[in-house]
Amino acid sequence: MSNVAQADIYTAPEDFVAKAHIDAAGYASMYEASVADPAAYWAEQAQRVDWIKPFTKVKDASFELGNVSIKWFEDGTLNVAANCVDRHLEIRGDQTAIIWEPDSPDTPAKHITYRVLHENVCRMANVLKAQGVTKGDRVVLYLPMIPEAAYAMLACARLGAIHSIVFAGFSPDALADRINGCGAKVVITSDEAPRGGRKTALKSNTDQALNHCDDHVKCLVVKHTGGQTTWVAGRDIDLNAEMANAGTDCPAVEVGAEDPLFILYTSGSTGKPKGVVHTSGGYLVYAAMTHLYTFDYHDGDVFWCTADVGWVTGHSYIIYGPLANGATTVMFEGVPTYPDAGRFWEVCAKHKVNQFYTAPTAIRALMGKGAEWVEKHDLSSLRLLGSVGEPINPEAWNWYNEHVGKGRCPIVDTFWQTETGGHLITPLPGAIPQKPGSATKPFFGVTPVILDPNTAEVQSETKAEGVLCIKDSWPGQMRTLWGDHERFEEAYFTQYPGYYFTGDGCRRDDDGYYWITGRVDDVINVSGHRMGTAEVESALVAHARVAEAAVVGYPHDIKGQGIYAYVTLMNDTQPSEELRKELVKWVRSEIGPIASPDLIQWAPGLPKTRSGKIMRRILRKIAENDYAALGDTSTLADPSVVDDLIENRMNRA
Ligand code: WTA
Repeated sequence: MSNVAQADIYTAPEDFVAKAHIDAAGYASMYEASVADPAAYWAEQAQRVDWIKPFTKVKDASFELGNVSIKWFEDGTLNVAANCVDRHLEIRGDQTAIIWEPDSPDTPAKHITYRVLHENVCRMANVLKAQGVTKGDRVVLYLPMIPEAAYAMLACARLGAIHSIVFAGFSPDALADRINGCGAKVVITSDEAPRGGRKTALKSNTDQALNHCDDHVKCLVVKHTGGQTTWVAGRDIDLNAEMANAGTDCPAVEVGAEDPLFILYTSGSTGKPKGVVHTSGGYLVYAAMTHLYTFDYHDGDVFWCTADVGWVTGHSYIIYGPLANGATTVMFEGVPTYPDAGRFWEVCAKHKVNQFYTAPTAIRALMGKGAEWVEKHDLSSLRLLGSVGEPINPEAWNWYNEHVGKGRCPIVDTFWQTETGGHLITPLPGAIPQKPGSATKPFFGVTPVILDPNTAEVQSETKAEGVLCIKDSWPGQMRTLWGDHERFEEAYFTQYPGYYFTGDGCRRDDDGYYWITGRVDDVINVSGHRMGTAEVESALVAHARVAEAAVVGYPHDIKGQGIYAYVTLMNDTQPSEELRKELVKWVRSEIGPIASPDLIQWAPGLPKTRSGKIMRRILRKIAENDYAALGDTSTLADPSVVDDLIENRMNRA
């Protein structure tokens, strides 16, 4: 049976559809019900979570400017960790909850049962408690992809504490900003993070970060590689030793549905990263439900999401969604190309993975290495493939379908965001035929609208193009930005009043399928990682030799978008290759390797309007090597700067 193609529409094999949770008729009627009477629909769906005190109010949400407020199940109480762990003990205590696959294939994998998970989460929660962590306190995690990361997330949830994970690729400065931003009491880190055979010195980064933080912040350290670390007495705590001595029982704290579960910083189009806040009840309902339906997860399946827990995808689809559903979830410490380009497929074969969820950038990178790396491994366990993070180009889609899915696995191209908690637009594999490159249709309860970017008018024809907004709230939606509700309203509800604005452009075809066309703001998507151009610019101008900088994205074969920086140097500074390298290194140390500029062009001047505004449109065009179509440049204060930029452009692909 194959993923049947008909003029670029692919339908899941019959035997897949027969077993699927949702078929086409089911999708149609359930979707209709979900938008016709959201309160009734979600009251029922919320029963997939165990409540301590049942809710009586389902939904209370307003997108009205000046009054944006989002609440779901607000008078209910629960504990998220109890939902992800304790409630499974009776029937699946000995089932594997987490399969941990280490960076090196020579290190044995770990199979952690729900019972062992429970024990470790309780131990870690007791350690945190001993450090004075209680409900509402913030705990920052700066960890490799190791089981302790899962224990730490769930230990926080058990205590009602709020975790904020900082991706291990971020710099000490970025870490310090986030620790200070949420006023964390504790940071949990490890000695080192091995990735692709190399090691990042996390503890030493944390030491540097903590130099810029309050003296009271404690540092719990996992001894993972055994690498050398410096130790600050009274501040640093050996987490392994403490856990070994801690009790294996720790009561789960009752929290309100609207109490925060986590903060996750993400890039916006302006200023510093934003602390997106997700709360407990609605988020868990939504993560669990989307995991079940989008991936058509069935009891006993092995689910693998290759993301890092430092990103939202790891939160919702390595930890919270799968564990709430009593799934077996794979947690991978390494990278797709280490020790060779067959690693993903080796791991799929080794653990008999049924659903595999990754990013287009990884697919493109592996595609470039050749299909022989896939053919070496037995992928017969795979039933479904997923994609997330950026639009997947049809070429990558087809390769994924043909070589990995062998033409028999539906592909779910899931569109969502840190802010949305879970999938917004995605195929449900048994119900919605796929078109390569389209995220297809909205998930239950999601009401996408396409607006004209200039007039803000709703495009009501089926076939439409514009910016993507959402009309009404869904339970997984973010509630606020940590400590800055005003910025929350400003960033998401001001440009198109009455709607949640995604920041993405979108097209809807004659069949009502949605095609995400990419960000329409100054956020770029580099290897599926969100990066604010403003962040890279402020890192560059912080360098003593830089007078001014403008950063834009440009098309990149593997990364999707690359980072292109125009840099104006101080008057007394001569450009050189050395300085170029130094600036790249500088940005890596200011933000982290994911923000490294791919191309830096020396710009004697930047194209500005007479009022001094940089015309990014022109800079984007030049970076795209599309300088013939610059449009009107007559409004520039000095049109001649453009000729110089064109002449010395860096991307001549
Ligand atoms: C982009 C990642 C097209 C989009 C879960 C969005 C996508 C941003 C897709 C959010 C997709 C994510 N097709 N574009 N399937 N998935 N995006 O917050 O631009 O890291 O706004 O969340 O990624 O990135 P974030």
